[in-house]
Amino acid sequence: MGASRIPPTGNSMTAIPNQQAVAAMLSRGPVIPVLVIDDASQAAALARALVAGGLDVLEVTLRTPAALEAVRRIREAVPEAIVGVGTVLEAGQLEEAHRTGAAFAVSPGATARLLDAACGHPVPLLPGVATVSEAMALRERGYHHLKFFPAEAAGGARFLASLAPVIGDLRFCPTGGVNAANAPAYLALSNVACVGGSWMVPRERVMAEDWAGITTLAAAAAALRSAQDRSAQPRTSHQTAG
Ligand code: 3PG
Repeated sequence: MGASRIPPTGNSMTAIPNQQAVAAMLSRGPVIPVLVIDDASQAAALARALVAGGLDVLEVTLRTPAALEAVRRIREAVPEAIVGVGTVLEAGQLEEAHRTGAAFAVSPGATARLLDAACGHPVPLLPGVATVSEAMALRERGYHHLKFFPAEAAGGARFLASLAPVIGDLRFCPTGGVNAANAPAYLALSNVACVGGSWMVPRERVMAEDWAGITTLAAAAAALRSAQDRSAQPRTSHQTAG
């Protein structure tokens, strides 16, 4: 049974979510740093440290009063970063994201109101799911790229591995409890585009402004390879088919 393209339903009939932009963003590297920024004056230095380590797609969560100002500062000072907002819970936050110039928005889950607002919106949305039914509902609305959250608590890599043969045309960015130790298990899966997480930006290093240390952690994260990266590599004579 081949993967069929299901037309969007409901209010989304006239506008399909901007999944191309999301796909491009998720394919830029194996890891998206998830940032909780308390002090906007540190945002540019933090972004520079991550980009220097090879991670240029950055999610600034809207969990702190400094978040939107942090996005503005990163856009101005670090144009090579692709900065979006995370923890989007309400439709109005998509507008804020747009006004701030965010390149994308990420939500931990999805409500009908948020999805209606996201349809045709200039800021592409990566919506979150934690169950098979949620993934199916978003697929019906035209979403094929989803955040899997909270990844470790909701079943981890085994959950996504079980889903791959059943709904093969979905690609996930698992976040929530993902770290350097368990990221490779996710990245080995055919339905994982990349992972998200905060392990390369430990709060104590940010407070100490240890930017070099954060670059080192980012470089280690950037060196992780996804299943997609691996399948793009030419086979050597030592590799066997299978
Ligand atoms: C998120 O918003 O995606 C998660 O809170 C990131 O989870 P982590 O801090 O466990 O990496």
